[in-house]
Amino acid sequence: MIHRVLILLLSITYSHAGPLKFESPTPPRYLSLRLNQSSFSYQIGISETSTWLNSAPIVFNAFGKTYSTADGTLKNVGVRRDNDIDRLGSYTSTEWLFSIELNTIVSATFKQYTSQNFVIFKQTFYNDTTGCSVHDASSVISHFPAFQVAVTTPEPLGYFSYGGFMFGFKHTFGTYEPGKVNIVSGTASGPFALLDQTGNAVIISPFSEFMSSSLHYSGSENSIRWGLLGEVDTVPAHFATEYIAFFGPGGINQAYADWGRLMREFYGKTSAYRDSDFTINYLGYYTDNGAYYYYQTENNTNYEQTLVDVQKYGEVQGIPYRYVQLDSWFYPKASDQGVITWIGLPDVFPDGLEGLNQKTKWPVVGHNRFWSHQTTYAKQNGGEYDFIIQPPFAIPTEEKFWDDLFRYSRTWGLAVYEQDWLDIEFDGLNATLTSARLGNNWLLQMGRAAENNGLTIQYCMADPRDALSSLEIPVVTQARASEDYHPGNNNWRLGLTSIFADSLGVAPFKDNFWTTTYQPGNKYNLSEPNPELTAAVATLSTGPVGPGDKIGFSNVELIMRSCDADGLILKPNKPAMAIDAQILELAFKNGIGPAGEVWSTYSMINDNYFHILLAADMTSPYALMPSQIGSLPTYIMENSQIANSAVVPVPFSEDQPLNLTTACTKSNFCLYHTSMRFSLSDRNVIIYGEFSKWVPMSRNRVISFTVGSNDIQLELQGAYMEIVTFLFFEDMNPVYVKCQIGDSGRATMSLVDRACQQV
Ligand SMILES: *[C@@H]1O[C@H](CO)[C@@H](O)[C@H](O)[C@H]1NC(C)=O
Ligand SMILES: *[C@@H]1O[C@H](CO)[C@@H](O)[C@H](O)[C@H]1NC(C)=O
Ligand SMILES: *[C@@H]1O[C@H](CO)[C@@H](O)[C@H](O)[C@H]1NC(C)=O
Ligand SMILES: *[C@@H]1O[C@H](CO)[C@@H](O)[C@H](O)[C@H]1NC(C)=O
Ligand SMILES: *[C@@H]1O[C@H](CO)[C@@H](O)[C@H](O)[C@H]1NC(C)=O
Ligand SMILES: *[C@@H]1O[C@H](CO)[C@@H](O)[C@H](O)[C@H]1NC(C)=O
Repeated sequence: MIHRVLILLLSITYSHAGPLKFESPTPPRYLSLRLNQSSFSYQIGISETSTWLNSAPIVFNAFGKTYSTADGTLKNVGVRRDNDIDRLGSYTSTEWLFSIELNTIVSATFKQYTSQNFVIFKQTFYNDTTGCSVHDASSVISHFPAFQVAVTTPEPLGYFSYGGFMFGFKHTFGTYEPGKVNIVSGTASGPFALLDQTGNAVIISPFSEFMSSSLHYSGSENSIRWGLLGEVDTVPAHFATEYIAFFGPGGINQAYADWGRLMREFYGKTSAYRDSDFTINYLGYYTDNGAYYYYQTENNTNYEQTLVDVQKYGEVQGIPYRYVQLDSWFYPKASDQGVITWIGLPDVFPDGLEGLNQKTKWPVVGHNRFWSHQTTYAKQNGGEYDFIIQPPFAIPTEEKFWDDLFRYSRTWGLAVYEQDWLDIEFDGLNATLTSARLGNNWLLQMGRAAENNGLTIQYCMADPRDALSSLEIPVVTQARASEDYHPGNNNWRLGLTSIFADSLGVAPFKDNFWTTTYQPGNKYNLSEPNPELTAAVATLSTGPVGPGDKIGFSNVELIMRSCDADGLILKPNKPAMAIDAQILELAFKNGIGPAGEVWSTYSMINDNYFHILLAADMTSPYALMPSQIGSLPTYIMENSQIANSAVVPVPFSEDQPLNLTTACTKSNFCLYHTSMRFSLSDRNVIIYGEFSKWVPMSRNRVISFTVGSNDIQLELQGAYMEIVTFLFFEDMNPVYVKCQIGDSGRATMSLVDRACQQV
C-alpha cells in the first residue's frame, strides 16, 4: 500500500509557480481565473483586476466522513501541470491532488483554454470510493468548484438561475448577497448565471455527467457548490465530472447562445433532427392536460371515435391538423399511476392504436409516464427485460427493451416518443439517486433506441439535468418549457426557459391551448380569457403548435394565423425570448428594465432581419431601442391582427425608441414587426409581409426576395392553390398584393405587378 502511494507521489510534478494568468483576447474583459496553491483557493473575475467570485473550500465526502481543504482533512499530495488539446482547443491544466484516506486519491483540476472565455473545473475520484453519500438529494457529496456568496464588487452583482421541471421553469433571480439568494438545489438544480448591471454574465453549469451532477446552495454556509448528487454512495474508479464557467460580455441572451453553441459543438448535437421534425413543423392536435379531450371523450362514444370526429371537424373547417398527441389516458396504469404496459386500452381504442392510425393516418406523439413496479415488461413480473424495481417505480436497464418497444410502436404510427414525468422517475428511485451512472444510461439507451427506430423525443417535466443530457441525444428535438396548460394560467410565460432550451438545440413547447374562450362541459370548469396570446406565443416559440379544442369550438381564423393551408407552421428563425433588460430588471429590481414580458425574435431571409417583438403583462412603461433586440435602426409596425387601427410604419432608432406601455396586457398584448426601408429608383418600400399571420415574414413562406431598381419580388411557398395576401408600404402608402400559390406549391410575387406568377 505505502509503496504504491510513493509511486503515485513520484509521478507528480510539484509546482509552486505563481497564480496562472488566463491569456487575454483583445477585448479588455475576459474570464480571469486566479489560483492560490498555498491555500487551495481560487477566484474568478471578468478582468485581471476584477473579482466576481471567491472560492469556498474543496470538499469530498467518503467513508462516511467529510474531507475539506478548510481544516486540512483533505491533504494535498501534489500538483500536476499539463498542456493538452481536446475538441474545445488547447488548454493548460492544473490538477490539485488530494488524499482522503490511505491511498485513496481525489483531485480538482482547472482546465484553462487558450484565448477562451471559459474555464472547466474537473473533479476526479481515482479509486473506487464508498460511503460518499450525505443522505440528502438536495445536496452534493463533493464541492468543486465552490464559491462564497459574498459581495465582491462596488456595484451589486445579480443572479439568474434555472431550476425545477420543464427546463428550469422555476427560475430564480436576485442580487448576489448573503441571505438574499434563492437558488434551487439538488436534483432540480440548473445552470446559474452571475450578472452585472450592464449584462456581462458568467454562466456556471455542469459540463459532463449531467444526470449525476448538481448545484447545491447552502444558506447556512453562504456558498454555492457543484458536485456529485448528495445520495451517490459509491463512485467508481476514475469517475470524473466537469463544470464550466463561461463568460459572455455581450449580454445574457448572447452568453447563453454562445455557451450553448460550445456545449452543442462539444457533444456533436446538430440541428438536423430539430429542423426536420414533422411535429415541430406542422400543426397538431393535442389531448394532454389542459386540452378538452383529456380523460374525456365526446358523450356516448370512445376516444377512437372522438379523434376521428376531431379530424372530420378539422377537414370541414379547413384546420390542417397533421398529427395527433395521445396522452396518458390511452394505456393501462397501476393504482400508483405508473405504466403497466405501453399499449392502447381496449375500451379507449376498440380497434387498437393500429385502428386509429388506419382511420386517421395521423402520425402520433405518444405520451408515457414512469414505469410501474408492476410493469409486464420486467423480468421480475414475467417479462423479458432487465429492470430495477423499487416500488412504486421501475426503470429499464437495457437498450433492447427500448428498441423492441419503439420498433413495435412504429406499427401504430408513433413518430415522437414523449417521455413525461422525467423528474418524478429520477427522484422516485433510490437506484437513480444513488448511482453515478444509472440516470445517464437510462436516457442514453432510450435516446439511441429512438434514433435507431426513426423516432424523435419530446421531454416533459424535464429537470435541467435532463435538459442538459439532451446534448448527448441527437433525437431530443423538443421539450415542454412551462407548466401544464390550463385555460387562463401562466403557462404562456416561457420567454426565459426558451433561452435555455434553444441554447441546447431543443425547441421549447408551450403545450396545448384553447382557441376560444368558452368550451362547454369542460372538465376544468375554466375558460380561456386570452386565446390570442396563447396562440401567438405557441407560434413564436418555434416548438409544436397544438390546439386542444372541443369539436365545434375552434377559432379557425385564429389557428390559421399560425400556419399555411397545409399546416406548415409560419414561425420565426428562433424562439421568442425575454430580452436582457427584462432579466436584469428581475435580478436588480432597479426600475431600469421593463416590468412585464418583453420578448424578441426574428426571421432572417436573404440576410435581412425582420424582428418580432412581443410585450405582454406590462406593469410599467418601457422605451425599447432597436439595439436591445439586436436590430439596426429600422421601421416598426404593429401586428395587423391585433392593431386596433391601420398598421403604420414608424421609424425605430436609438433616438426614436418604441414606447411600450401598460396597455400591453395579456388580453391586449402588443406584437410588433420591424422591416428596413428599401430604396427603389422612384420610391421607398417597406415590407410588412403576410397580412393575416403572427409571423408576416416567415422562412416557411418567403424563401427569398430580390430588390430591383423598380420592383421587389418574393419567392413564396404554400399549399396547392392557397391564396396569400402581402402588405407593403410604398412611400408609406399601404399596398396589398394578393396571390395564389401554384400547382408546384410555389409562386413569385411582384410588387410592381401587384400580382404573382405561379411557378
Ligand atoms: C494565498 O493564500 C495565502 C493563505 O491564505 C495568503 O496568505 C496569500 O496572501 C494568498 N496569495 C495571494 C496572491 O492572494
Ligand atoms: C488509487 O488510485 C491511484 C491512482 O490511480 C493508485 O495509484 C492507487 O493505488 C489507488 N489506490 C487504491 C487503494 O487502489
Ligand atoms: C430508498 O431510500 C429511502 C430513504 O433513504 C428508504 O426509506 C427506502 O427504504 C429506500 N428504498 C429502497 C427500495 O431501497
Ligand atoms: C355531454 O353532455 C353534457 C350534458 O348534456 C354536456 O353538458 C356536455 O357538454 C357534453 N360533453 C361533451 C364532451 O360534449
Ligand atoms: C365553476 O366555476 C364557476 C365560476 O368560477 C363557479 O361559480 C361554479 O361553482 C364552478 N362549478 C363547479 C362545479 O365547480
Ligand atoms: C417614444 O417616446 C419618446 C419620448 O417620450 C419620443 O421621442 C419617441 O418619438 C416615442 N417613440 C414613438 C415610436 O412614438
